[in-house]
Amino acid sequence: MKKVIGILFGGKSAEHEISLLSAKNVYDAMDKTRFDPVMIKIDKNGKWELDNDQMLLLNSDKLSPFDVIFPILHGPFGEDGTIQGFLKLANIPFVGSGVLGSAVGMDKDVMKRLLRDAGIPIGKFLTLKSHEPVPSFAEIKSALGAPVFVKPANMGSSVGISKVTEEPEFAAAVKDAFQYDTKIIMEEFIPGREIECAVLGNEDPIASIPGEIIPSHDFYSYDAKYIDEKGAALEIPAKLDKETTKRIQEISVKVFQVLSCEGLSRVDFFLKDNGELIVNEINTIPGFTKISMYPKMWEASGISYTELITRLIELAIARHEKERLLKTSVV
Ligand SMILES: Nc1ncnc2c1ncn2[C@@H]1O[C@H](COP(=O)(O)OP(=O)(O)O)[C@@H](O)[C@H]1O
Ligand SMILES: [Mg+2]
Repeated sequence: MKKVIGILFGGKSAEHEISLLSAKNVYDAMDKTRFDPVMIKIDKNGKWELDNDQMLLLNSDKLSPFDVIFPILHGPFGEDGTIQGFLKLANIPFVGSGVLGSAVGMDKDVMKRLLRDAGIPIGKFLTLKSHEPVPSFAEIKSALGAPVFVKPANMGSSVGISKVTEEPEFAAAVKDAFQYDTKIIMEEFIPGREIECAVLGNEDPIASIPGEIIPSHDFYSYDAKYIDEKGAALEIPAKLDKETTKRIQEISVKVFQVLSCEGLSRVDFFLKDNGELIVNEINTIPGFTKISMYPKMWEASGISYTELITRLIELAIARHEKERLLKTSVV
């Protein structure tokens, strides 16, 4: 019998629109000889929209109408462990990281502290909570240099991110970032190429051929990502020597494991002129649009979009089976 796969998309985050594009592509690429995809849309208010067929499925006497849920939600309320916790409570297998990996991967402050603890190279950063006094730009500059990047701790798609070079821009950047989170981070500017690497697997994850993002804007901003068609060029494979490629792949797998990720993730790097690699971040639910790096890097590595989705679903089932056998409840 074909497995029913619920594609959960949309959502309350600022990345709602991106999710729509990603979900459509996952639906199109899914192997329909093995799977029955069902679209489940979450609107911008967080309300789940189901059509009549879906209501029938939900009302059926099957324990769960879905064999696997494929969350293709970006940012808070989708990529941050909240949906994952909900699916876990509902006892439904789902694609991607569980509660811990998702939450840790979403929080740039906690993520970077764990990476630092594991000896993975990251840039200098400072964290600020909304109830704390804002340091002066001079203080920030003496700790991190200039320019600095100011970001909400939990967000994505470059929403709320500013590059601050001069003191007068600083207050507005802090205010903007605090619109999206009660915690923000400030980072030293890392000059370098932006290299990304896809990871796939549970216990024994594999890393793809790396790709490069070449933004035509000052940095890879929201506009460069989604508004301006010429905002960035993607180069897959990235032009790298063998040794650097290998290092990127090894670090990517390590980052994935250190952060307790499962299923899939995209690890993003800066590569400095001197050959130094700095990990920028992990994305536990990377973009899945037709032009997105994650599926493209796998394609270049010999795994088609359709095969990739099949593998992700199989990984979700394998993880669920393994966890099902644990003695987690006292009977
Ligand atoms: N410390 C930094 N140094 C240089 N560029 C940065 C730095 N942090 C972010 N950027 C730029 O901003 C973009 C978005 O930042 P990122 O931390 O990846 O946020 P998001 O999670 O929203 O993608 C990066 O792709 C890069 O172009
Ligand atoms: Mg990023």
